[in-house]
Amino acid sequence: MAIQWFPGHMHLTKKAIAERVKDIDVVIELLDARLPGSSANPMLAELTGHKPGLKVLNKQDLADPDYTSRWLAHYNAQPATRAISLDAGQTAPARQLVDACHELAPQRGGLAKPMRVLICGIPNVGKSTLINTLAGGRKAKTGDEAGITRLEQRITLADDFYLWDTPGMLWPRIIVARSGYNLAASGAVGRNAFDEEEVALELLSYLKQHYPALVETRFRLDPIAGLSDDEVLDAIGRKRGALLGKGRVNLQKAAEIVMHEFRGGNLGRITLETPEEFAQWLAAGQRLDAERKAKKEARARKKEPRQDAGA
Ligand code: G4P
Repeated sequence: MAIQWFPGHMHLTKKAIAERVKDIDVVIELLDARLPGSSANPMLAELTGHKPGLKVLNKQDLADPDYTSRWLAHYNAQPATRAISLDAGQTAPARQLVDACHELAPQRGGLAKPMRVLICGIPNVGKSTLINTLAGGRKAKTGDEAGITRLEQRITLADDFYLWDTPGMLWPRIIVARSGYNLAASGAVGRNAFDEEEVALELLSYLKQHYPALVETRFRLDPIAGLSDDEVLDAIGRKRGALLGKGRVNLQKAAEIVMHEFRGGNLGRITLETPEEFAQWLAAGQRLDAERKAKKEARARKKEPRQDAGA
């Protein structure tokens, strides 16, 4: 199963971003530190072109600190890009954000040339939480000023620093199967858009390889290395009393437990992808996507009436 999900209103969001980006100095993309590659939106790069970019790895409290360092180094090595990590527990994240933006656009600052920043992120990545913390009481609601559409809000972080939020969704077409699973596991995808058992099995498959001790400790399991993913799910269901009649495990319930524990950070600090793994998945996804596209075009060509037909 490939996870596809379209939360809607994308057209409006795309339009609003394309309009706003003309007067923007830095684009902040909020990413989920547990799945930075999968929670990024390739469409954003298309819309924002060559604007300097700040990647904010949010929810770092849930992510593996070692992996977070690797992702930060990965992004910081890219041209016109800076990366920082944050979490909702930080009471004053503005300083880090403001400093990083000034590094990216040193020519901006002061009342004559205020810094203008746009913030974007996929659903559930923590954008509202961060904006509320940043804004304190200073949030400027939309529509009160010329040039601010109803879709947007502007937050004044300092006299010479404006942050634009463009609400709405910018959701990519998921061409990487693993990204779909990771997004679903993280809680970014609507519940009815995927099969929980399948997502939990994929999650367990990754955890078994990378974090077996966390799974064993949390669910009080014997070593899981030799078990199949199904056997691990079954064992978790038994331990947690998710049973149907006659000793059978309620796999749906067991899957929900696994996801709930992962999302809440109860297993420990976990990241589901490294930059290298993600690059491999992306390359494979792009290959498959190109093949699919070529097949579709070939089918369309077959259907076209021949030019010389009836001549
Ligand atoms: P969004 O605007 O990008 O859609 O995301 P939002 O801020 O609503 O956050 C989505 C969920 O992620 C919320 O949890 C929020 O509390 C949680 N969250 C945001 N930032 C962080 C963070 O840095 N660390 C952790 N651990 N969680 C974070 P929720 O369960 O949906 O709601 P709530 O009851 O916790 O508010």
